[in-house]
Amino acid sequence: MIAARGAGVIARYRAFLPVNDATRVVTLGEGNTPLIYSPRLSEIVGRGARVFVKYEGLNPTCSFKDRGMTVAVSKALEHGARHLICASTGNTSASAAAYAARAKLDCVVVLPAGKIAAGKLLQAVAYGARIVAIDGNFDDALRIVRELGRRGDFAVVNSINPDRIAGQKTAAFEIVDELGDAPAYHLLPVGNAGNITACWAGYGEYVSARKSTRTPRMIGFQAAGAAPIFHRRVVEKPETVASAIRIGNPASWERATRAVEESRGAIDIVTDDEILAAQRWLAANEGIFVEPASAAPIAGLIKCCDSSRNPVCSLAQIEPESAIVCTVTGHGLKDPDAVRIPEIRAVSANPDEVLRSLER
Ligand code: F0G
Repeated sequence: MIAARGAGVIARYRAFLPVNDATRVVTLGEGNTPLIYSPRLSEIVGRGARVFVKYEGLNPTCSFKDRGMTVAVSKALEHGARHLICASTGNTSASAAAYAARAKLDCVVVLPAGKIAAGKLLQAVAYGARIVAIDGNFDDALRIVRELGRRGDFAVVNSINPDRIAGQKTAAFEIVDELGDAPAYHLLPVGNAGNITACWAGYGEYVSARKSTRTPRMIGFQAAGAAPIFHRRVVEKPETVASAIRIGNPASWERATRAVEESRGAIDIVTDDEILAAQRWLAANEGIFVEPASAAPIAGLIKCCDSSRNPVCSLAQIEPESAIVCTVTGHGLKDPDAVRIPEIRAVSANPDEVLRSLER
């Protein structure tokens, strides 16, 4: 039986997760996010394709990280941890801080100084995490966190922790439960590469459990200035406006490569301009506002439909009526600086002035 929606992913998918009777579940009601049909993206693909946007920005801390964090923090508590630690480009730290607060655990977040979107930093502060900024990038932060985890003082809740991956695979379960089977393609942004790994695992487990008959092709998108998997080499100084995926040496690199190979998928790149254009387009055309990293698969879908741009995966000849899912991973409000607010001048407070200002 499916547990009440809103009860969280552990209640809903308990049989697929590493929990037992001794696990005290730490949840904020994550998961059960909307799978929104997009008529305009469907039109762009053509051939009767149905494109859906999985809006993960509607999780409790406004990103997909909460699916993994409920499992990671519940298990850390079960194992007697008192102190959690993570490196982050922002969303993992927001999520870890919230679930740690809920579990009454201490939470330390190690962040690249000056590189975290304002909303995400605000969340870590509000949830009461102890914040350490380093002179370095995310990859440096993760190296430090791994080392401190090895010394035994902290439980690491980055996606190198298998409990995080286990929780994140529930996004694939929800997609199949809603569509009735796996989609033909699943597009998503790739940073540290945990999510593509997790979703692929989820699709595989659902086939084994006979809840679906097939698996999708996994298509991951990296930002052009932070594309180690695409280029097959570490990027020492990753740069992109999509700060969430500004990562040069992903922890789950090999597993993500395996997911792409096994699924007959692909890794491609999108430029910052394409990312920002897709972010604006999705908000203005479908009413879905996402942070820049989350717009990467939307930019990617558009690229894959345009054979003149040499996409690694072409959707021009897609099987008619195929279902395509794009995961949009985080809410647009997390990164207010990514959208330029035009100058808005005040007019006198009367209806005629308001109308006049609209004519200008
Ligand atoms: N989208 C968003 C909004 C993210 O925050 C991240 C990763 C990704 C996509 C990429 O997912 O790492 O599993 O490939 N954010 C991490 C963080 C690195 O620290 O919040 P991935």
